[in-house]
Amino acid sequence: MNDPNGLVFYEGVYHLFFQYHPDSCEWGPMHWGHATSRDLLHWQEHAVALEPDELGMIFSGSVVVDAGNTSGLAPAGQIPLVAIFTHNHESAKAQGLTHQHQSLAYSIDAGCTWRKYAGNPVLESPGLEDFRDPKVFWHQDTLRWVMSVACGDHIAFYASSDLKDWTPLSSFGRTAGAHGGVWECPDLVPFSLAGRERWVLLVSLNPGGPQGGSATQYFVGDFDGRTFTPEHDDIRWLDWGADNYAGVTWSNTPGRCLFIGWMSNWQYASKLPTFPWRGAMTLPRELLLHEVDGKTLLRLPAAAEVAQVFHPQAELERLGGGAHDLSELVRAAQGRFRLRLQSDARTAWRLQLHNDQGQRWTLSYDAEGARFAVDRSQSQSVVFHPEFETQHSAPRLAQTKTCDVVVYADTQSLETIADDGLTAITSLVFPSSPWTTLSAEGNLLISVDAYVERGLEQE
Ligand code: FRU
Repeated sequence: MNDPNGLVFYEGVYHLFFQYHPDSCEWGPMHWGHATSRDLLHWQEHAVALEPDELGMIFSGSVVVDAGNTSGLAPAGQIPLVAIFTHNHESAKAQGLTHQHQSLAYSIDAGCTWRKYAGNPVLESPGLEDFRDPKVFWHQDTLRWVMSVACGDHIAFYASSDLKDWTPLSSFGRTAGAHGGVWECPDLVPFSLAGRERWVLLVSLNPGGPQGGSATQYFVGDFDGRTFTPEHDDIRWLDWGADNYAGVTWSNTPGRCLFIGWMSNWQYASKLPTFPWRGAMTLPRELLLHEVDGKTLLRLPAAAEVAQVFHPQAELERLGGGAHDLSELVRAAQGRFRLRLQSDARTAWRLQLHNDQGQRWTLSYDAEGARFAVDRSQSQSVVFHPEFETQHSAPRLAQTKTCDVVVYADTQSLETIADDGLTAITSLVFPSSPWTTLSAEGNLLISVDAYVERGLEQE
């Protein structure tokens, strides 16, 4: 699997559709897989929601709750969920024709089953080779739907009153942001900060990310219902790790902005040493705006729900420096644990996880340069791709005196979230046995929390 698609919250259920090739661990004819959750943590997989057809493969897109049945796709008085996705036609591509068009599918049973709209495609490519990943939301001020769609080196915006008939509004980005690769998976999201409406445009980019390959950049600005105007010209990355791509936000979660990304990178996605599956999502994150030194930045802490399943291990709480045996904790937690670190932002430190095979993962902080660094070059035994064995450095953006870092460890990932999400570094790792030892240098306070399913039992 790759990109998260069609993220929508409806009747107490979070839906997560995803780019999926059911017959192989390699990318191929894309379907929409489907999973649901009530807490963003425990997911149940369902039957494939959308299969390729004569118009092509089912590429990325979004789902909206069409509360007013503006599309008329549900019988009168009912509410359809409407998927807006890209049909990608490979044989048209081979003939040099435009091959990416936007289409609809709908569900009138709260997302369980899906039917494609008979009038597809609803929006044909205006002659562009790349024209994909529509993300749609209801724009309350102008009382119409707005679509952001990726067009190679820019994002185009369209409007519609019924999700079927789309009119061009404007475009953004030909001369803004990072352009080391093709733009994909846009998402335009409203926020309220100090009583003022602000908009954030997420744009995934492949290649050209800060660590090479895929990454997501964002722009903060204004959207007047027609045009997006950024308020800065620096390049901003959502996550400085190599493995958080194509992420978008859930639709229909008033008051919260929930995000999930595909935890991989096109540089080596098809080579990951997993079987019989390949591809995973990040932890769910919450997107929030935050003022730092006159700049409005995005932060992405883990969604609050994640805290339910991590519990302090009394005997390992508030560790100082030195080496600590984690083996029992890791065994009990089935490889999932959370580290919480605190340090004076003016002093350097280094933390390492080790396993019994001599593999290690390092997270360090350079106080002078105000940078974090993750080194996974020694974290696995199999060399499956040269681009994987890398070190990733990221700026510390917070200006607080204390540096707070949380690391979420799962058997094949380490998600580092510093300063409440102002700096995030998401990394896949493939150690051949679980981490058993934690060692630290510098003046650090460290707590270790184990993953325990207790949170759910208490409900
Ligand atoms: C991003 C992407 C999208 C496309 C999908 C195809 O990872 O390339 O632009 O819709 O994956 O699987």
